[in-house]
Amino acid sequence: MLSRQQIDDFNEQGYMVLERLFSDRQTGALKNAALKIVDAFDSNRHRTVFRTDDRDTGRDDYFFNSAETVHCFLEDGAVNEAGEVVLPKHLAINKIGHALHDRVPEFTSFCRQPVIAEILRDLGLQSPQLWQTMYIFKQPSIGGEVRWHQDASYLITRPAGVIGLWVAVEDATRENGCLWMQPGQHRSPLREIYKVDWSSRKGTLKELDETPWAIEHAVAVEAPAGSLVLFHDHMPHYSSTNTSDRSRHAFTMHVADSRTRWAEENWLQRPNLGAFRL
Ligand code: FE2
Repeated sequence: MLSRQQIDDFNEQGYMVLERLFSDRQTGALKNAALKIVDAFDSNRHRTVFRTDDRDTGRDDYFFNSAETVHCFLEDGAVNEAGEVVLPKHLAINKIGHALHDRVPEFTSFCRQPVIAEILRDLGLQSPQLWQTMYIFKQPSIGGEVRWHQDASYLITRPAGVIGLWVAVEDATRENGCLWMQPGQHRSPLREIYKVDWSSRKGTLKELDETPWAIEHAVAVEAPAGSLVLFHDHMPHYSSTNTSDRSRHAFTMHVADSRTRWAEENWLQRPNLGAFRL
């Protein structure tokens, strides 16, 4: 599927964009499936907000338990001080996670497309295993910023080797909060690590390295709907608040080779579901 040049570029830059790999029909099916989940979501019962400006201190059991099921998380800007949801449900969700691939047939069939496993094998994964999936809404006007981070801080394998796959379900532009990356910086050290102590069910984000982010070299990764962005787990990435009037839906998958070991201190554990092989 990938040319030698594309593989070399991925290894050199730490990320790659395959424009319009998926059809409108495919991205439309993902969007409809996500909206059906939102329809069924009771925002009075579950009011967990997903934000990244609190050093991840807000992670609760509703979050940890989403590793093996499908939970909806709210936008900070959709909830008032009393914790009440002040926007219509379909404009209030930050994301859905983290086992869409196991639990929702439309996502299962999307992930099982042979082209995805082929790309991952081209990138050196012998037996790709899908650990988590998320549907991210980046809502108009309030879609929250995701601060600079590296996914290896949150998805720990030994040796490190998670690949992130990010599908633009809608056009991603600077205005609506596209991804930003730092080409070549996947070789920079891991800055932080988020570990969970399961006896207390508490997660802590610990600083590992003070090397500053190379923000001056950051590039906006604008991508038309249907594009696939792949990136290395040490690649620093970011997305701004969506201040535009257009949403920026995306579907993400995180994959590791079965030869790597999944760490016990990862927040995401799948004791019941086990491995999902692509
Ligand atoms: Fe990330």
